[in-house]
Amino acid sequence: MRSSFTHFLAHFAIVIVVVASGGGDPGDTLGQLALDKILNDARPIFGGLDEDPSTLAPASTLYGHGHGYGYNKYARWMAGLPDAILLAHLNIPGTHDAATWNYTQTTQDELSKAMRCDGTTPRPARVYRCQQRSIAGALEAGIRFFDLRFALDPFDARLVFWHGPALLSAAAGVEDVLFGFYDWLDHHPEEMVLLSFQYEKGTRANATSDATVQRKLFDVLTSSVAARYVDQGRGHLGTLGEVRGKIVLFRRFDLDMLPPEFEQSVPGLHMAPSKWIDNCRGFELVYNDTAAATGGRSGTAFIEDFYHPDDSTTIEENIDAKFEAIKTHLQQAATGDFDSLFVTFASGTHIEVDPPVYPDVMALGSGGALGINHRLLELLGGMKGRRLGVVVMDFFEEPSGLIDLLLDF
Ligand SMILES: *[C@@H]1O[C@H](CO)[C@@H](O)[C@H](O)[C@H]1NC(C)=O
Ligand SMILES: *[C@@H]1O[C@H](CO)[C@@H](O)[C@H](O)[C@H]1NC(C)=O
Ligand SMILES: *[C@@H]1O[C@H](CO)[C@@H](O)[C@H](O)[C@H]1NC(C)=O
Repeated sequence: MRSSFTHFLAHFAIVIVVVASGGGDPGDTLGQLALDKILNDARPIFGGLDEDPSTLAPASTLYGHGHGYGYNKYARWMAGLPDAILLAHLNIPGTHDAATWNYTQTTQDELSKAMRCDGTTPRPARVYRCQQRSIAGALEAGIRFFDLRFALDPFDARLVFWHGPALLSAAAGVEDVLFGFYDWLDHHPEEMVLLSFQYEKGTRANATSDATVQRKLFDVLTSSVAARYVDQGRGHLGTLGEVRGKIVLFRRFDLDMLPPEFEQSVPGLHMAPSKWIDNCRGFELVYNDTAAATGGRSGTAFIEDFYHPDDSTTIEENIDAKFEAIKTHLQQAATGDFDSLFVTFASGTHIEVDPPVYPDVMALGSGGALGINHRLLELLGGMKGRRLGVVVMDFFEEPSGLIDLLLDF
């Protein structure tokens, strides 16, 4: 956590930069100024590097053309990989509920005004917060898979980010945040990112993934700017060379309330919600029947998403149960079905027990119990050089070294 002094300095720096650019850098085109405006709108969810002490850039580069990117040793880790490598063969660090990184109690209190019209009251902020690093900071730290949960805002106007009934920002829309990714990819043309979009249920009373929601999402993901940055392949996870500088969509949503041509034209991998087994220690999801029937079993994803150890009571039991699921799945990733995509969620929670297992307790431990991340450090240490696939974490930066181990293959 930053001291209030650095906090003050960061804000002071922002003011100077904004004033400086407001004073009119004659080189700024309207397009550049418009992008700066969108990135500023996106900040509560996408973040900026001044929220990220490990990549703290000179204030002069935070906004505008340089953006201060490129200070972290993993900011360009894909650059050194051959074009021909299959994405399914890579180890890809990911973040679960990536949009929750600034969801502190202060943020929740501030957002209660935006939620008043709905009457929904979320539980304390700690229940929902799964990250501490901003998305911009996570990208720079090497994260290339992001779990993003969307639904309509309290006014049914546009798509924003939620975690259950917790609205994460009233300002940053899904499309604004996508511009953050587009801009980052412009500065990192050799990288690629997998973006998982999931319709978040239980946001507001009676909210569902209806035709309005689906149409808005479709429009955002197929706009002319999206067509430039989103890989247009469908049902196909190929080589890194095919998708450098691009987003590959991991579609945990259906467009079933729209005419069939919508579903038939949206790019990406369809991880249909009906095929995703809730709270499961490991299941196989076929997203392309044709490809799954081939020898290499591409077109198939193996997923561990056991996020709620129902039968466990104490903190230690919960962490043990979750860790067993992770370990079994990573061992499977290391030994089998090499052309299949493996996705292992290292995140979990169990609020209903006493003491509650908050996401941070699961990831980082509490009262002498080692958290998942510390145990993962040891497990990964013994699996160096193996294919592990996508590993989706909470609070991934703690303890340090998880990314190093994942990327040392
Ligand atoms: C993070 O949350 C705090 C408290 O609500 C807020 O003051 C700050 O502006 C937020 N950061 C961003 C980048 O929105
Ligand atoms: C939700 O739907 C139920 C049943 O249709 C209705 O009685 C209720 O008023 C709705 N709640 C809100 C907040 O719209
Ligand atoms: C599925 O995989 C096959 C074979 O690799 C490919 O030709 C096809 O375009 C893929 N996509 C869909 C949506 O079937």
